[in-house]
Amino acid sequence: MTEYQTITAADDVQRDGTIKLHDESGFAGMRAAGKLAAEILDEVTTMVEPGVTTLELDTAIRSMMLDAGAVPATLGYRGYTHSSCISLNHVICHGIPSDKALKDGDILNIDITPLLDGWHGDTSRMFFAGEPSLKAKRLVEVTYECLMLGIEAASQPGARLGDIGAAIAAHARQYRYGVVREFCGHGLGRMFHDEPEVVHQAEAGTGPELKPGMFFTIEPMINLGRPWAKILKDGWTAVTRDKSLSAQFEHSIGLTGNGVEIFTASPKGLDKPPY
Ligand code: MF3
Ligand code: CO
Ligand code: CO
Repeated sequence: MTEYQTITAADDVQRDGTIKLHDESGFAGMRAAGKLAAEILDEVTTMVEPGVTTLELDTAIRSMMLDAGAVPATLGYRGYTHSSCISLNHVICHGIPSDKALKDGDILNIDITPLLDGWHGDTSRMFFAGEPSLKAKRLVEVTYECLMLGIEAASQPGARLGDIGAAIAAHARQYRYGVVREFCGHGLGRMFHDEPEVVHQAEAGTGPELKPGMFFTIEPMINLGRPWAKILKDGWTAVTRDKSLSAQFEHSIGLTGNGVEIFTASPKGLDKPPY
């Protein structure tokens, strides 16, 4: 049985297995955190090019968060020591920024979560370094469509959680892409990762009912090949087992009762490459 808990900004929130239903103060908090996250990724579009290292991007991201009065939620999270995850080519997610320079044709995901006034704005987009292959660009385009179809499914009256994964998987299947199962979207708000777990491949009509006031991410990871992932020895970097390319986009959303508010939409319309 799914339990829901209506909370206000004053409540001391814990991860206790319940799905939180937020009030208007929660929407205001997430709106600000999400907007900051999106503005930072907008700024990053001007910096991504061959020759730049992912550590340079991470450093710039950390500065932008601190300058805005936020802290990177990933810094010190379960021992993670960076302000972003930057996942190149066959890396699915949780790529660790390093002094390796981007190369012409790389595709990369940059995932950031500023914690602003106690609220988490979690979002990621794909970026191109130079000119990727046609098949890489098509994967990125379809992955963005998967995210938006998932959001559309969540905004239908009477929707259930499984409708999201069903919409995403149906679209990916048309291209014979693999939908990653090991990592999911998640509830968030004052917690970085909370209930519910938002799987990206599911049966329509199953799972908890979607209710106004729920906040969660949708963050499909789609592989050009098979869905299977493995984690490298560093304990973080998730890669495709078959070394095929992988793409991901992520938004943080809130359910309003007559649809969805996308907290992390790009103010400049820079939602997907080319930028
Ligand atoms: N931002 C990631 C997510 O979408 C979580 C990254 S946790 C980290 O949920 F520690 F790897 F940074
Ligand atoms: Co997330
Ligand atoms: Co994220």
